Amino acid sequence: MSDRPTLVEVPPRFRVVIGPWDAEVDERTIVLCPGHAFGDGRHESTRMCLQALASFAPRSGFRLFDVGCGTGILSIGAAKLGGEATGVDIDTAAIAIAAENGRRSAVEGRVSFATTWPNGTFDIVVANILRDVLTELAPLIVARLAPLGTLILSGLVSTDVPEVVARYAPLLAGRRPEIFERGAWRTLVWRLTARPSP
Ligand SMILES: C[S@@+](CC[C@H](N)C(=O)[O-])C[C@H]1O[C@@H](n2cnc3c(N)ncnc32)[C@H](O)[C@@H]1O
Repeated sequence: MSDRPTLVEVPPRFRVVIGPWDAEVDERTIVLCPGHAFGDGRHESTRMCLQALASFAPRSGFRLFDVGCGTGILSIGAAKLGGEATGVDIDTAAIAIAAENGRRSAVEGRVSFATTWPNGTFDIVVANILRDVLTELAPLIVARLAPLGTLILSGLVSTDVPEVVARYAPLLAGRRPEIFERGAWRTLVWRLTARPSP
């Protein structure tokens, strides 16, 4: 690792500092030691998720469930926006890294990470994983979404979108997502508070 931090801007709301960690932490700074875990703010799928959070999260007091948390970057971002986040990952090493990143980002009281899924429902559910995992987990993911919540799915390319929409739309009363794109990558957002598109 370099002895100089790498700074990654994710406009309009976040700045990611990737080790070392003497960086000043403020309400927009996410401090990461990624280790081998995925999610340092440079990948388009992660960046679109952070931007969707900044755009669609309630002003404060919301609960977020982060499926496939990796470094914890999205959970930490949610905490920086005033929420509380629970992240899960199948990778136990990622869980430890995410917890450490929460401490380094000064949000340790508002994020928690585990390999087991929590009970209950959440105002926002975000999952930046590959298509096959998203389709397999669809019923479990939708079951964690509050009735007026927001679901953010990413890690998709354009050819993945029809299959993922076809899997999730019936579980969400037939509603269609908003689709955001950046280069080859796509992010789907269902805002259940928004009027369904015709
Ligand atoms: C592309 S990374 C996303 C990391 C971070 N959330 C981000 O947005 O940058 C996907 C993560 O999902 C995890 N993952 C893969 N399959 C999973 C599953 N079935 N359940 C939970 N996590 C899973 C991987 O270990 C990996 O950390």
